[in-house]
Amino acid sequence: MSQSWDSAWETVFSSQAWGAYPSEHIIRWVARNYYKAPDRSAVRLLDLGSGPGANTWFMAREGFQVSAIDGSPTGIALLNQRLGKEGLQAETVLGDFIQLPWADGTFDGVVDNAALCCNTTANAARIVAEVHRVLKPGGTFCSTNFTDRSWGYGLGKQVEPGGFTAISDGPLHNKGFCLFMGRAAVDSLYSAFADTNVERISWTADDMTQLIELWVVTCRKPL
Ligand SMILES: C[S@@+](CC[C@H](N)C(=O)[O-])C[C@H]1O[C@@H](n2cnc3c(N)ncnc32)[C@H](O)[C@@H]1O
Repeated sequence: MSQSWDSAWETVFSSQAWGAYPSEHIIRWVARNYYKAPDRSAVRLLDLGSGPGANTWFMAREGFQVSAIDGSPTGIALLNQRLGKEGLQAETVLGDFIQLPWADGTFDGVVDNAALCCNTTANAARIVAEVHRVLKPGGTFCSTNFTDRSWGYGLGKQVEPGGFTAISDGPLHNKGFCLFMGRAAVDSLYSAFADTNVERISWTADDMTQLIELWVVTCRKPL
């Protein structure tokens, strides 16, 4: 498959266990925006870069109509296995999300948990435009990216501003390309959306010598 990001994630998923449960910011976004829906099965949510699908699993389990896309065959296979084992339904697609195989205005919400940041700045802009296209007017987007203070920034080989490969240490070691963003990059990337809310979450590692930090952006496609 010709693809816009490198295959490190396929190696990760075929050689180690990956987080099976969703992060708190994803749970919060789903709960705030969709728990009140009178019929959850009518709410269509997309997990962009699902990997083995912690977020897909959670959203399906909560009764939403979920689709997932990822380029890792092992990630999608693990997700299908888990859904089957637990009797849950979701549409799962193996593919490059630089082009989304859904019609305009398909989804009520799209979640990206640290998947967009595996792509270059130019490709990330194309992907965000695709997310905008497949969202319904008024639909929401929750997108999580590493900040340019996070462990890994400046390590390895710089291939573009904020973009590094062969990161030599930390949680992004052996994870391929990562795009770390400053606030200006975040503001520019999501500028076609409205009601944009930017938060930062961070934690430390190695006895507080390292910082791991994420932008959590939530925004809405204008009506
Ligand atoms: C850091 S993992 C996150 C996985 C998942 N969102 C989670 O929270 O556990 C990034 C994922 O994005 C996928 N990915 C990155 N860029 C992609 C692209 N352009 N098309 C398809 N999958 C992509 C990788 O295969 C990988 O599964």
